[in-house]
Formats: sequence, structure tokens, C-alpha cells
Amino acid sequence: MKNTVTTFQQAKEKGEKLSMLTAYDYSTAKLVDRAGINGILVGDSLGNVILGYEDTLSVTVEDMIHHGAAVARGAKNALVVIDMPFLSYQTSVYDAVTNAGRLMKEGRAQAVKLEGGEEVCPQIKAITDAGIPVMAHLGLTPQSINAFGGFKVQGKSEQAAKKLLSDAKKVEEAGAFAITLECVPAKLAKLVTETVGIPTIGIGAGNACDGQILVYQDLLGVFTDFTPKFVKRFANVGEVMTEAFRQYDKEVKEQSFPAKEHEYTIADEVLERLCGSIIE
Ligand code: KIV
Repeated sequence: MKNTVTTFQQAKEKGEKLSMLTAYDYSTAKLVDRAGINGILVGDSLGNVILGYEDTLSVTVEDMIHHGAAVARGAKNALVVIDMPFLSYQTSVYDAVTNAGRLMKEGRAQAVKLEGGEEVCPQIKAITDAGIPVMAHLGLTPQSINAFGGFKVQGKSEQAAKKLLSDAKKVEEAGAFAITLECVPAKLAKLVTETVGIPTIGIGAGNACDGQILVYQDLLGVFTDFTPKFVKRFANVGEVMTEAFRQYDKEVKEQSFPAKEHEYTIADEVLERLCGSIIE
């Protein structure tokens, strides 16, 4: 059954946990979807794990549309959320609605995600009023990495925790259908989850959140440049891939691949006539 923002709201009301993973292409989206994951985020983390940038700041709306549309073609049941990249919504309410609209029209998003609290509430309201569901993102918001001075747990001081709780209430009032909580102390995430009426989706925010999300390359051990403390590696697919690539390299060089069963045939008489015509 297709997951929608209503499914997410109902899950919160029934106390059922929600699962989300990132994906950036058609084949992976199909695998994630087949596993029964509730939502796929086409995260701007694609800047790190797909494009090899050191942060998410260079990701463009075009990048998100390109990858988002591929994911949307592969996701039959999962809710597809596409991230709004850096400066595609912070600049003005007009830019926010225009770019969210492109992610929906061209990228086939069912919802968009943007980072920030009170300061982006006018954008959340306007995008939502245009009929585009918005997921908010609080805590460690990677597009503000330079302002934070690095990847650090957020909301640890009383003042920061108060601001995070207040932001959560404000984004809900502005119309957000869910909130991603990234790198937030577990007890604070629990308090936020109990305070707001919309689902919280945690990443490094403990297990009291209404749902969880991970970057799939982290979960599979495919991206190893940096592994945050909150990541659990569910499989070592990176090792499996490297081993398969090694074996392929070996078989190509020793000429055991391709074998007879991988070849296409041609009738001998065609070949004989061909060789004859070359010699003439
Ligand atoms: O871009 C992303 O993958 C994200 C998740 C880390 C929540 O925003």
C-alpha cells in the first residue's frame, strides 16, 4: 500500500514506528521499497555519498530533480521525500515555493524536506499552502555546517534545548507533516516527540522518536569516509562489492571471464563467407 503523509500521521497516532532510508537512484529505490520501508528520502547527502563533495552545500535543485525522479520511478509504496538543497528556500518564500514545486512537478516528490526552525516557518507555510507537504529538519542541519563549526550534537545546553523544542512547535504550527531530528540527545528527542502532534524521524536522536532514518550507504558499509556514532552497520556490502570487483579483475586478466556461456554465436557458414570475402 502506498505510504502517504496520512499514513505517517496515523502511525504516530497508533504508536507504530516508521522506517525511512535514503536512496538516490532507481535500482536502490526498488530494493528499499521491496523491503517495506515506509519512506525514502532523496537526501542532499547525495552531495557526500554520490557526488563526493565534503559537504552538502554544492548540491543543486537540478541534482535533486535528476536523482529524485529516478527514485520516484522505483518507489511503488514508499513515501518519496526530496530534500530542498542549500539556498533553494532560504533566500525567499517565492524561491521556496518555486523550487518545492519543481521538486514535485519534475522530481515527482510527494513531499519536500527543508532545514531550520522559526526562521523558515514562512517558507513551510507557503509551500504547504501550495499543496506540497513539508518535512522539517531540526538539530544538526548539515546546510549550516559552517555556522555550527563542524558536525556536533545539538541541543545540549538549556538554551539550545529550549530553542529546539520551541522550533519543533513552530514548524508544526506552520504546517510541517513531520520533523527529522538529527544528532540530538535522546532525552530531548523524546520530549520533542511527546510534545508535538506530528511524527519525529530520528537520526542520532535515540529510539523514542516516532521513526528512524539512515543514509543507506552507512547502513550497508558502502560509504566509509566518515561514520557517525549513531550509525549501525547492518551488512558489510562494501566488502562484498570490493571482493567481487577483485574477482572480476582476476578473471579478466587470467581470461577465465567471459566464459563460453557468456558468448553469442554466429553461424560458421556466415563466418566462412565473411572471411572469404575479406581475403578476396
Ligand atoms: O540528506 C540526508 O540524507 C538527510 C538525512 C541525514 C536525514 O537529511
